Amino acid sequence: MPKPHDHLHRHHLLLLLFLLITATNSAPASATTTNYQRFKEAPQFYNSPACPSLDTNEMCSHQAVHVAMTLDAAYLRGSMAAILSALQHSSCPQNIRFHFIPSATANHHHLRLTISRSFPSLKFQIYPYDSSKVSGLISTSIRSALDCPLNYARNYLANLLPPCLSRVVYLDSDLVLVDDIAKLAATPLGDRSVLAAPEYCNANFTSYFTPTFWSNPTLSLTFAGRKACYFNTGVMVIDLQRWRQGDYTTKIIEWMELQKRIRIYELGSLPPFLLVFAGNIAPVDHRWNQHGLGGDNYRGLCRNLHPGPVSLLHWSGKGKPWVRLDANRPCPLDALWAPYDLLQTPFALES
Ligand SMILES: *[C@@H]1O[C@H](CO)[C@@H](O)[C@H](O)[C@H]1NC(C)=O
Repeated sequence: MPKPHDHLHRHHLLLLLFLLITATNSAPASATTTNYQRFKEAPQFYNSPACPSLDTNEMCSHQAVHVAMTLDAAYLRGSMAAILSALQHSSCPQNIRFHFIPSATANHHHLRLTISRSFPSLKFQIYPYDSSKVSGLISTSIRSALDCPLNYARNYLANLLPPCLSRVVYLDSDLVLVDDIAKLAATPLGDRSVLAAPEYCNANFTSYFTPTFWSNPTLSLTFAGRKACYFNTGVMVIDLQRWRQGDYTTKIIEWMELQKRIRIYELGSLPPFLLVFAGNIAPVDHRWNQHGLGGDNYRGLCRNLHPGPVSLLHWSGKGKPWVRLDANRPCPLDALWAPYDLLQTPFALES
């Protein structure tokens, strides 16, 4: 026989459910929250005659350019733009293979369908990522978006992607390429580097770790004898064979476990990468990650390009171009993202 407060409880649950349903129904069709955005079909892009023909091992071919990206509903519009930009500026677009990593709980069928509709001949594979593995390891950071488990999928690429794959370009979903990705993918890694990324040695490296870290000799010695510089993990060329051989996933997890016990850094997925790799990475020209275009994390100010040429624009930071464009409050550089937006607007249907 139900106790009186059980009844009350049920009543509350019903009320909550009702509120949830009404809230969902009355919410505007926001670009960041809707699961079922419609996207336009992209043009078909063809190889130039000089492109190598790939061997039969389609999803592992060494002549292909392999790109890994995470996929989720909130950033899908960004991912679609990134894919389009990569194809459009490539001289061998049909030789690009995409490796998508959605969370294991996402609607894979819908993601697959959305991508195939916009890019009917795209060669891609989906690898679900069980984020429960990492969720217990995430310590809260200053920006809640950075705590999203999918942000940590880049730690696990070597395990998620097929063992036959030896080199991959990892890309965030808030960027567009304006140059041939094959050039980035061909970055020399030297005899020993596991990954390549643009380095920023003028950034204040000290500030990425806490005073607790620097005042503990055992910890701060990590960087002894290394010319450690900041790098952004949103654009990386990774040698997966070397990564597997050195078991770098475990090394990153060990730092995350330490962070759970004593706070050694503030940001989310980046500092463990710096701890393991900073000072030992192969350089990439800064043109391949013009980052920070999302703007200032605290006040949402617009950012300018860094001096020098541009091959890739990256809206890292709090603001995203599609959100600001929808709100009619774009930053000047958001106009460079807009041409790659495949979102189907109601207006486009009428024309
Ligand atoms: C670098 O950051 C640390 C910690 O945030 C600060 O104490 C130091 O003054 C900064 N150095 C420079 C050169 O700005």
